[in-house]
Amino acid sequence: MLALYLIFTFDQSLRNLLNLQFGLASKANTIVGVLQLVFLAILAYLVVRALNALIFGLMFRFRRGFEAPTLVRNVFSIIAFTALFFLIFSLIFPEANLGALFTTSAIFGVILGLALQDTLGNFFAGISLQADRPFQVGDVITVGVLRQTGVVEEITWRAVKIRTFQNHIVLISNSTAAKEPIEVCPRENLNARLVFFNTLYTDSPAKTIHVVREAVREADNVSQKISPIVRIRNLGDNGVDYEVKYWLVDYAKYNDTDALVRQRIWYAFRRASLNFAYPTRTLLVERRPKSGMREGEESAIVERLSAVDIFAPLSSEETATLAQAATSHVFAPGEIVIRGGDPGSSMFVVHNGRVSVQVNENGRARTVATLSDGAFFGEMALFTGEPRIASVVAIEETEVLEIGHAAMKRVFDNNPDLVESLSHIIAERRQALAATETLSGSEHDERAGLLSSIKRFFGMK
Ligand code: CMP
Repeated sequence: MLALYLIFTFDQSLRNLLNLQFGLASKANTIVGVLQLVFLAILAYLVVRALNALIFGLMFRFRRGFEAPTLVRNVFSIIAFTALFFLIFSLIFPEANLGALFTTSAIFGVILGLALQDTLGNFFAGISLQADRPFQVGDVITVGVLRQTGVVEEITWRAVKIRTFQNHIVLISNSTAAKEPIEVCPRENLNARLVFFNTLYTDSPAKTIHVVREAVREADNVSQKISPIVRIRNLGDNGVDYEVKYWLVDYAKYNDTDALVRQRIWYAFRRASLNFAYPTRTLLVERRPKSGMREGEESAIVERLSAVDIFAPLSSEETATLAQAATSHVFAPGEIVIRGGDPGSSMFVVHNGRVSVQVNENGRARTVATLSDGAFFGEMALFTGEPRIASVVAIEETEVLEIGHAAMKRVFDNNPDLVESLSHIIAERRQALAATETLSGSEHDERAGLLSSIKRFFGMK
């Protein structure tokens, strides 16, 4: 200020001094003018800074509650200083045409433009960010494909400065910020978070939801304005998967709050005897009887065979021996159990389900009988050695018990009278088939013939 005062007070004396002492008559005015310009420019700079501090440091903060962005302050300083500089320049050098100096220098403009391409890009992107105000200092933002997250600390004319949750500073250039997608969690907004957990399938969902909601509601930094929401996300492989959605007072502390919420859930689970699910595998060790059948199955087979009328005369030991020799098979609906015309050396008892006995009539299957639990079939080929007389097809899912030639021979050896009743049944069935096939002879003749052929086949006298 003193220098400025002196240079303006002794303006004329200085010109004379330069003129007489140094012989700079022609340049004295310019030198004094430049000196005045420099000192006035310094003064203008100080004034602009003072105005900046007054307007943005005090008034802005007072009215808006937060400090003005650096970019706005810088833009203000540049414009105000340039305007003052032009004013001072035109006062000191009224004859110089500053405008012409800039407008005529096209090459200068191109060079400057190219050199400042990125800088200007950032600068204008910064201005558009300020105009749009998508976020401001204090907000948590996540930027770009790298998903860098942090709290906005400053928006300068070049970049957005964020402080990550590892306390690193990341600078994102304004032009990048303008192009990339930005997820903003504003400071004044109630931002929500999701925390995941799971329980065993045995734990009641209603109880779990209540317990977790109450536990999370009380945690620090969890907003009291909205009650947390607990809901089932998935019925998973290891247990029931849940999520709890809660709203934060200060979103910038979400890492700590998530951790606290998980901790509260753990303690709440302890108190309420709820259990977290983790990958488990339950091994059931099963001891099978030597026959390869389960105990229940074996007794069910014994029960089934003792209910079959032709086996009624057998003692319980004989039935049990027969059951051990029997093999169980399951057929899907529509599957063929035995095919007409095939050779056969075993008979079957229907254990569970239904089968239909079908004969071929002019190329089409005709059902001659439907057999269900406890009925038997396949005895004809077994006892006579002839091919299967008909096909047997499962109507529904059907389990059959197969009894082979050797097992039946043992039964006949101990119960020769069985052959009699069997031949009776076979003759009856043959008669029923006679309608479709030309089976000759009366039932009586048939039975007499059958009886002897069965006895022959099983080597009986
Ligand atoms: P098999 O000839 O060995 O093979 C086909 C089976 O169908 C036959 O033995 C009988 O057990 C059974 N079968 C044939 N006709 C009838 C019928 N009318 N009623 C019940 N079952 C029959």
